[in-house]
Amino acid sequence: MTEARREIAQLENAHVEEAYARWAPVYDLAFAAVMAPGRRAAVAAAQRRGGLILDVGVGTGLELPMFDPDVSVVGVDLSEPMLRRAQMRAANERLLQVAGLCVMDATRLAFPAAHFDAVVAPYVLTVVPDPAATLDELARVLKPGGEIVLVNHVGAESGPIAWAESWLGKKSASLGWRPEFPWAVLGDWIAARSDMRLVERRKIAPLGLFTLARIERIN
Ligand SMILES: C[S@@+](CC[C@H](N)C(=O)[O-])C[C@H]1O[C@@H](n2cnc3c(N)ncnc32)[C@H](O)[C@@H]1O
Repeated sequence: MTEARREIAQLENAHVEEAYARWAPVYDLAFAAVMAPGRRAAVAAAQRRGGLILDVGVGTGLELPMFDPDVSVVGVDLSEPMLRRAQMRAANERLLQVAGLCVMDATRLAFPAAHFDAVVAPYVLTVVPDPAATLDELARVLKPGGEIVLVNHVGAESGPIAWAESWLGKKSASLGWRPEFPWAVLGDWIAARSDMRLVERRKIAPLGLFTLARIERIN
């Protein structure tokens, strides 16, 4: 990453942190139920092979109780107010599967290469300022044979919904996510990486509003 790009990323991360400091107290009320099917599907896919799982953008930890007790989950998030809630949840619910929770930027993970059996990131790629750089970093810490499991709202290609998403997209700094996120962000990244392949792409409830993607690291 060039120095200029790093500075822009820092600035955009600051916007994300501001947005999620505002969301943190009301996040569970607003988003626990509607996004639960995607979290459940992502966790089921990520823990299929067991082992050590990285949960990127763990937020308030709504998906943490969905992991089986015999896997180990490390959660990271850029937002301290969000992460603090995840820590309280893990302590209050005595979640033995949670091996650690720390503040960390998904584009600069403090883990060695090929460290995790799976990486899961529900509802995160539409939030991070640089999705491709984030995916590069998730792939780096993933073991060959492991999967990155994502759930996101993928934007409409055309029509009134695409128009509304593009209008909302202009407000993405205050919202904390990009409503107009196109599939090409993921598709182009996978196409450019000879070591990654798309294993599954499927719509998720409610109303197929969200898309689950499983991307395997081949070597
Ligand atoms: C929409 S929330 C999703 C939280 C949780 N996964 C869920 O399903 O409720 C997005 C989360 O991504 C985090 N995030 C945004 N940019 C990040 C980055 N660069 N590194 C780590 N976390 C980030 C935000 O702070 C926020 O907690």
